[in-house]
Amino acid sequence: MPGRAIGRLVVVGVGLIGGSLALALKAAGACREVIGVARHRRTCEQALELGIVDRAATELTEVLPELGPGDLVFVAVPTLAVEEVFGILREHLPAGVTVTDGASVKGSVVAAAKRIWGEVPDFLVPGHPIAGSEQSGVAAARDDLYIAHRIILTPLENTGPEHLRRVRQVWRAVNAEVLDMPVEEHDEVLAATSHLPHVIAFGLVDTLAHDAENENIFRYAAGGFRDFTRIASSDPVMWRDIMLANRDAILKAVDLYSANLSSLRAAIAAGDSDQLMGVFTRAKAARDHFSKMLAKKAYTESMKTQEVTFIAQPGGAVEGSLRVPGDKSMSHRSIMLGSLAEGVTEVEGFLEGEDALATLQAFRDMGVVIEGPANGRVVIHGVGLRGLQAPPGPLYLGNSGTSMRLLAGLLAGQSFDVTLTGDESLSKRPMNRVADPLREMGAEIETGPDGRPPLQIKGSRKLHGIDYQLPMASAQVKSCVLLAGLYAEGETATTEPAPTRDHTERMLTGFGYSVRRDGARASLSGGGRLAAGKIDVPADISSAAFFIVAASIAPGSDVLLEHVGINPTRDGVINILRAMGADITLQNEREVGGEPVADIRVRYAPLKGIRIPEDQVPLAIDEFPAIFVAAACAEGKTVLTGAEELRVKESDRIQAMADGLSILGVNAEPTPDGIVIQGAGEGAAFGGGTVDSLGDHRIAMAFAVASLRARDTIRILHCANVATSFPDFAGLATRAGLHLQPA
Ligand code: S3P
Repeated sequence: MPGRAIGRLVVVGVGLIGGSLALALKAAGACREVIGVARHRRTCEQALELGIVDRAATELTEVLPELGPGDLVFVAVPTLAVEEVFGILREHLPAGVTVTDGASVKGSVVAAAKRIWGEVPDFLVPGHPIAGSEQSGVAAARDDLYIAHRIILTPLENTGPEHLRRVRQVWRAVNAEVLDMPVEEHDEVLAATSHLPHVIAFGLVDTLAHDAENENIFRYAAGGFRDFTRIASSDPVMWRDIMLANRDAILKAVDLYSANLSSLRAAIAAGDSDQLMGVFTRAKAARDHFSKMLAKKAYTESMKTQEVTFIAQPGGAVEGSLRVPGDKSMSHRSIMLGSLAEGVTEVEGFLEGEDALATLQAFRDMGVVIEGPANGRVVIHGVGLRGLQAPPGPLYLGNSGTSMRLLAGLLAGQSFDVTLTGDESLSKRPMNRVADPLREMGAEIETGPDGRPPLQIKGSRKLHGIDYQLPMASAQVKSCVLLAGLYAEGETATTEPAPTRDHTERMLTGFGYSVRRDGARASLSGGGRLAAGKIDVPADISSAAFFIVAASIAPGSDVLLEHVGINPTRDGVINILRAMGADITLQNEREVGGEPVADIRVRYAPLKGIRIPEDQVPLAIDEFPAIFVAAACAEGKTVLTGAEELRVKESDRIQAMADGLSILGVNAEPTPDGIVIQGAGEGAAFGGGTVDSLGDHRIAMAFAVASLRARDTIRILHCANVATSFPDFAGLATRAGLHLQPA
């Protein structure tokens, strides 16, 4: 046993909350003795019979004199009864004893303490376990009530560190997650998330119960009513107390909800389907997100960082017909243009990965009604170029550089201010490449230090067209400028140093917006309109690339990748691998919604090292981690140059791959703008080992593929972000023939 958290525990009020702590602490062996104090003798007897307490008393004054330093009094009585207990503690509590409580409103506990002691004493640590059940009373106590639940402590300035430490230790001993919060914030958060739902549930049941027809209503009440009103069978005294104790914060929450309810009422009365769909789709998305968070919480210690490690066993070959998820670049653009179009846009094949979902959520936050995604289907109720609304707060774009850079352009011409933020990786990526041209167009944008996110974009700036020569081959920068051009006066043009993906130009054209293209130059004039339509997103060649490489390096492989986008600005991976000797054939070539598509058949073939033509670099920019794995299996040396852009992707992909390949025994030398890889030729190319994907989805998937030609197990760290572009990669890869397990 790691040592007891405390000596004696005195539980004042042996009900669900107090009794459960007593049971859990006893089960954990974390205290020497539990003494229960309850007003009614029968409760004391029950607590003893159920083994919840070792001893029980009806008067607190009876037990206090025996306590000393290291002991804890847990006040678990209804909120409004706390003050009376404090009165007794003032007279009889020995020095050195710690006191904490479990009341749901902290402001009233602090106020009660001040009335009793003049100030909150240093031994009192106000706390609130966020756990409960509609059952109450001593018989409902459980030793697992607090496992993985949160305990909010609201320590004050003069709270004694030793007392605070002791209370934290007690809650941790029962496997609860302890966090601190200021008193006021606690009461506001709880008013919104707990007290308001109780007001509504009690009120709704009472309303229906008053109805003369109530018998019938309850008889026919289905699951929805039952789920929604479960909390109306909670303890009335406790909830009466909470309403009285947290009056102001609850009134604020009730008012906010009443206003929302009135506008829902008005929407129903007016038959305003858009308004209803807006509220319902936003609420559904929020609730689904919340359910996911809760589900994760059930099996991970902390919800903040979900850690995924890939464990790839060596060997295998890939076969069968596979359809990888939808194209990420097109999925982003479908939401953006669909939102700005007039009318309803239906998208099929949408990538339900975190990056595209970040874009989707951003537009929901700006008032666009978006149904789905469900099985790759999304329905966007476009608001027109001028129809976006100010979001309620900063738009969080997760790991997605495309979301941030394209949105920067699109938002530079809006009438509202907006802030764009992202995760740790995105927060390190360069944004001046979009901020500079946008400023030239008249936008007002502030970046964080060194031109990194967050981006603060001021609204109501007049934009004018520019003729922009891109300093680097970047589809994101090109798209950003062209999207800003929709809002600019006159013509906006971009000229790129090498061809980059042209999905923005194609999709704009598909939405009926005229884009002129003349070699490397693309231009459009502001002030037009986008007409909604249908979008069929093909499978992402960047995701297919992992299986193209897998089949090319693993003897015996033969796969068919279905319905893959083979836009000539994206097919560098096919050209490069073919030049290395890969056996790739395109079947059933066709055009779908303005984009070329094919089924790609790949069979194993021995590869040879090559000098990668620089003109292929932008056309394969996202596929290099996979191509490097192919190069390591090829006969001879592969040399990549002109690819410095790889250093500013989700990670520095040159360094990350060179480091990982070296760990696996491959001779890989990074250069400022590329890499030199000495291929192993026939036989196993990789040793085993632990490599770090640095949270970069494509690095993680590339090393998973490497296992096909490894001698030993490869462990790949930090793989959670694979979900940004390829949800269920591990599942599909395993079905195809890799021996991959996420852990
Ligand atoms: C993308 C453009 C590329 C690519 C990224 C998606 C796009 O970035 O790497 O994954 O959808 O426009 P750059 O424009 O920075 O090369």
